[in-house]
Amino acid sequence: MDKGNFNSFAKRHKDKLDQTLQEWCEKLQAPRILKDSMFYSLNAGGKRIRPLLLFATLEAFNEETEKGLLAAAAIEMIHTYSLIHDDLPCMDDDDLRRGKPTNHKVFGDAVATLAGDALLTYGFQLLAEIPVHHADANQKIALIREFAKASGAEGMVGGQVADMEAEEKRMNLEELEYIHIHKTGKILEFSIMAGAILAKANERQMHTLSKFAYHLGLAFQIQDDILDLEGDEEIIGKPVGSDEQNHKMTYPALLSLAGAKEALSTHINQSLALLKETGLKTKLLEEITFLIAHRDH
Ligand code: IPE
Ligand code: IPE
Ligand code: MG
Ligand code: MG
Ligand code: MG
Repeated sequence: MDKGNFNSFAKRHKDKLDQTLQEWCEKLQAPRILKDSMFYSLNAGGKRIRPLLLFATLEAFNEETEKGLLAAAAIEMIHTYSLIHDDLPCMDDDDLRRGKPTNHKVFGDAVATLAGDALLTYGFQLLAEIPVHHADANQKIALIREFAKASGAEGMVGGQVADMEAEEKRMNLEELEYIHIHKTGKILEFSIMAGAILAKANERQMHTLSKFAYHLGLAFQIQDDILDLEGDEEIIGKPVGSDEQNHKMTYPALLSLAGAKEALSTHINQSLALLKETGLKTKLLEEITFLIAHRDH
């Protein structure tokens, strides 16, 4: 697959996802301010990497990507909730996200917190709403269970707490890996495993894909740490230097910038090697892996 093919795959799927997010938000019977706040962040120009990973995984199994549309929307909702809460004054206290003022800057802390709560719960409803011809009851239960694990105490939320506890503390690489794998890796991993669940992957395929996702998730957050240091605020759409200001433990803080870049390239190479092992049609997943390695936002 050449770059043009990947770009057209990405554009087509992002458009479909945007349309789905808008439809599902619009039909909510809820206070206007809540719907506006939810949609403001959903529609603020995220890269949609997680939905694209899900669609690319379905393609790897030669499955219709339409099957993954509601799960992709659910993932983007829960990811967006995690960002709204991450930016709150009681957490990273950031004013810029996806190139726009953060949710709480526009809607206030209380509505922003509640918009996050509503996106979290609506995400789970969307999984339950997947039509039966796209996923049977067992597949839906597996999706709901795995997503709950990936986003809750054993996943993203646990990672965010560990991230907070690590402020101004010395730690080793193993402890830092725990943070990155949980706060970021688990939802990224779910995006890939959701594709595998919908495609009824066998156990060996599940195992290899989950190892791939482990390295890809780590690589993704290492690059996030690097961009926080040397990114361009205009391009990344969020403040540069937020980690240093909050005394966060990051890869560059622990290993130096050069060491972080080396770790990034190691995890990218491991991801690519594991993709080969799957024996699936992984061209699109490869493209996303390169994108994650070289992204500037
Ligand atoms: C940012 O995620 C937060 C992390 C988990 C590192 P993204 O870099 O995917 O943010 P958007 O969705 O493109 O805004
Ligand atoms: C947070 O990591 C990951 C989430 C669970 C939201 P960061 O705090 O580094 O994410 P950014 O840099 O604000 O997007
Ligand atoms: Mg944070
Ligand atoms: Mg943050
Ligand atoms: Mg960051």
